[in-house]
Amino acid sequence: MKFYRVEGGRALKGSIEVSGSKNAVLPCLAAALLTGETVVLKNVPMIRDVDVMVEILKALGAKLSISKEEHKITVKAEELHTFEIPVALSRLLRASTLFMGSMLARAGRVRLYGYGGCPIGKRPIDFHLKAFKSLGAVVEESTEYIEIKAERLKGSKIELSFPSVGATENALMAATLADGETEILNIAIEPEVLDLASMLRKMGARVEIDARKRVAKVWGIEALSGAEHSVIPDRIEAGTYMVSALVTDGELELRNVEPMHLENVIGVLREMGAEVEVVSGKSIRVVSEPTYLKPANIVTEPYPGFPTDLQPQFTVLLAVKSSGTSTIRETIYEERFHHVNELRKMGAEVFVEGRTITIHGPRRLAGSVVEARDLRGGAALLLAGLAAEGATIVRNAEHVERGYENMVGKLNKVGARIEITEE
Ligand code: EPZ
Repeated sequence: MKFYRVEGGRALKGSIEVSGSKNAVLPCLAAALLTGETVVLKNVPMIRDVDVMVEILKALGAKLSISKEEHKITVKAEELHTFEIPVALSRLLRASTLFMGSMLARAGRVRLYGYGGCPIGKRPIDFHLKAFKSLGAVVEESTEYIEIKAERLKGSKIELSFPSVGATENALMAATLADGETEILNIAIEPEVLDLASMLRKMGARVEIDARKRVAKVWGIEALSGAEHSVIPDRIEAGTYMVSALVTDGELELRNVEPMHLENVIGVLREMGAEVEVVSGKSIRVVSEPTYLKPANIVTEPYPGFPTDLQPQFTVLLAVKSSGTSTIRETIYEERFHHVNELRKMGAEVFVEGRTITIHGPRRLAGSVVEARDLRGGAALLLAGLAAEGATIVRNAEHVERGYENMVGKLNKVGARIEITEE
């Protein structure tokens, strides 16, 4: 098991290069199965979840080459020699579910023995399966696996009961090779979904998205071609580092970001009185003032609302740096609260009632031994360690490494003192 030892109380100063988006590159890797030609992905974050998706692609028969220093992956899925997603790998992350759409469209059959993902809620895939059935697929659910089959998918109307990111991505991928036109209503419009759509278009797919109406139209074609695509920057990584500047009374410039994707987050920070400046079109500067920030009442919502993936990190910000009582209502996941008890161990005055976190700030946190249980909660505990007095040990740090490229290296470069230990 890996753990981080964080020395607290050091102001972070300097600039951090933000990596490509985890939640954009994972669906793009799944989409590479839609063609037998070469797909080149750039600005790829070198994180564990990407490694697992690469292993699944190899197990399915794709040929890949990876250049870590160039952040580039080349995929050629010319011959698929199985329709079964390997159980040991698919259980490691939620994004393995995204192979359902591309495998079904390409091979007409897919068998998923289970999937993983952070323990932040039930996270069923009923919306995905309903979308596949709308396209004419037959879904067989047994105790060990889910099998989905279709001679050829038929374009149809799909109405999502919730703007689910994964279900939208799976429906889009499946529809690109279906026979006829598909209309998808109530789609998710997260930047990562739109980035997948732009990659599909580069592959020759006919995809139109009206983000305002949350409607996608796809005209199926016979085959998709190869493409080259650079994934968008990771807005959640950027938001995490914005918080790290504020909780350590430092100042950071985050480079290679897309400020537009963080409009809501920047708005909340500015309402709290934080100094956030958009520098040129691709950098954001955050400067912490010695004064405390105002409290906030935040509700997590589908994009363009406040992102649930920054809820744990903002819990820390409000506990440490804002003066007064704040709330965060978590409307997306029923159990994204593991970090709350861990923060209480450090002296945060924070508690959960139903799906609302209440935070009384500011509090001086004291270094402690805390447990990461999921990716964003683990990142939040690391932020708390940066702000705390003394040393903090974050156990199960593997969770953080799933989704943040070289987080310890990036933070140490701007003045943090974090050691990684393996036991
Ligand atoms: C994606 O997960 C992200 N993961 C999540 O990021 C993110 O929190 C989430 O979107 C919401 O923005 C990836 O892109 C790999 P959903 P996804 O389908 O697609 C329920 C991170 O930390 N639901 O929009 O799984 C579900 O249980 C991760 O990077 C159903 O009930 O999210 C959840 O409560 C965490 N049935 C809600 O909808 C379904 O069929 C939103 O899920 C599908 C979802």
